[in-house]
Amino acid sequence: MDEQGLPPVDDAVSGADETVVADEAVVTDEAVEVDVVEAAAVATIPEPTPLASHGPARVISMVNQKGGVGKTTSTVSLGAALAGYGRKVLLVDFDPQGALSVALGINAYELDLTVYNLLTEPDCHIGDVILSTDVENLDLLPSNIDLSAAEVQLVAEVGREHALARVLGPVMSEYDIVLIDCQPSLGLLTVNALTASQGVIIPMETEYFALRGVALLKDTIEKVLSRLNPDLQIIGVLATMYDPRTLHSREVLETVQQAFGDAVFQTVINRTVKFPDAAVAGEPITSFAPSSGGAEAYRQLAREVLSR
Ligand SMILES: Nc1ncnc2c1ncn2[C@@H]1O[C@H](COP(=O)(O)OP(=O)(O)OP(=O)(O)O)[C@@H](O)[C@H]1O
Ligand SMILES: [Mg+2]
Repeated sequence: MDEQGLPPVDDAVSGADETVVADEAVVTDEAVEVDVVEAAAVATIPEPTPLASHGPARVISMVNQKGGVGKTTSTVSLGAALAGYGRKVLLVDFDPQGALSVALGINAYELDLTVYNLLTEPDCHIGDVILSTDVENLDLLPSNIDLSAAEVQLVAEVGREHALARVLGPVMSEYDIVLIDCQPSLGLLTVNALTASQGVIIPMETEYFALRGVALLKDTIEKVLSRLNPDLQIIGVLATMYDPRTLHSREVLETVQQAFGDAVFQTVINRTVKFPDAAVAGEPITSFAPSSGGAEAYRQLAREVLSR
């Protein structure tokens, strides 16, 4: 084990051969090889089957206490891609910054009711707080800065780690997938998200220090698993902001694959300005630039998530 608590390189299963880069063309002499690998890997991800009915929901948290790694971008993009496959999706903004709400074009600061009210007021009904979005099958449980007070208020409560699970209970039968966008911290809000979830996706920026803090994150997931939620599983690690032109990006991706083996999604999200552009437009990439490499990458991720 190294200082990150990760297995030594030689012990790890390398998933490097399965990597799929589904974004802009690679302008190096490796391009041909990448294309061949891509075709082979895509073939192993099945097309989602259409659903005849909806629910009960599978709840997935997007977690990494490191800031700016693509949690919110991945929540909105994956959520919209899953909705595109006919899944009924609820996105939960569980970050007081409210970035997920903003990314869906919602000014959460003007809202009277947010997830904060649901956590702290027993008479508040989730149906009054959920908002529909411009994307079919995609709903949002918004949040704003009020949520930062909930963390303090919940500390004194019995069953404080289960507050979000209680909030989501009444709508679990209506949705197929609930995606929770966590704040960059491993505090009580994130523990609530993990307690409410069956799965975790760990977005990881493909740059130096990507693995810093991962031992602490794994430790938190294991504690929640053993003390609060025996159903919790890591669904996958998602490499984001990958630049196939740089050796640096490729080396970091390899290190992540050596550390996590098969847990790393075949889908890798490339760095492209289309993501910040879509966020500014208040639209998921799948509607903002549906034929872009970024949109296709998240559609592929949706297929991978549904197949895991
Ligand atoms: N693949 C990408 N390529 C380029 N920019 C990206 C990509 N993914 C996300 N970004 C941009 O990087 C910034 C951080 O992304 P994002 O907000 O999704 O991260 P986060 O992990 O949710 O951050 P925080 O920890 O602050 O909540 C945003 O400006 C976003 O638009
Ligand atoms: Mg975020």
